Amino acid sequence: AIIPVITIDGPTASGKGTVAQKVAQQLGFHYLDSGALYRLTALSVLRRATPMNDDHALAKVAEHLHCHFDGGHIFLANEDVTQAIRAEEVGNTASKIAAFQTVRQALYGLQLGFRKPPGLVADGRDMGTVIFPTARLKVFLTASVEARAQRRYKQLIDKGFSASMQDLSKDLRERDERDMNRASAPLKPAENAYHLDTSDMTADEAVQKVLGWYAAVG
Ligand code: C5P
Repeated sequence: AIIPVITIDGPTASGKGTVAQKVAQQLGFHYLDSGALYRLTALSVLRRATPMNDDHALAKVAEHLHCHFDGGHIFLANEDVTQAIRAEEVGNTASKIAAFQTVRQALYGLQLGFRKPPGLVADGRDMGTVIFPTARLKVFLTASVEARAQRRYKQLIDKGFSASMQDLSKDLRERDERDMNRASAPLKPAENAYHLDTSDMTADEAVQKVLGWYAAVG
């Protein structure tokens, strides 16, 4: 039987992580945070001081990623890096290395492996366009830069990081720019994606919308 997949793609801080996790919980599906794989690679790269222009060395780091996900926590080897990978520096580095096709290729198989019964909710930038093109439901989540900067600000402060709204808005714009304009797997809606602007929505309202669409297509 075909294992159903729901893909939720969108820009940084659009709320896709929260929404995808809640949808997965509601359906009893597995959850893939593909951005975390790029962040884990970035954290390794920063620690090893891998040259940022050596696409083969960067891909090697991605290929040899020893990570696992357990009860909402993310581990690199045996270290809990759930918080560490959320730092802005790690996110920015992730976005830079994610532009390399060698790195994307190195993480391809790992992502496919998350498709297990009874189903998967996958969030990222290219879940519906590249990794799971046959997904049953594809969602493209957006939100204004202001709404996203505000959410990111709150997340960071809640996690004990310091943050400035001005720096965050600038970072978001730069990262959007890089993610949308790269040659390989750029951020863009899949052809048959359902669009949802969450600027004025709560996470739960967005979850209900996605579940409604899934019920209609499933
Ligand atoms: O979603 P998140 O902000 O955690 O992702 C970090 C970075 O990883 C993104 O800015 C993006 O460049 C990259 N990424 C990607 N493809 C994905 C998920 C994330 O290129 N499927």
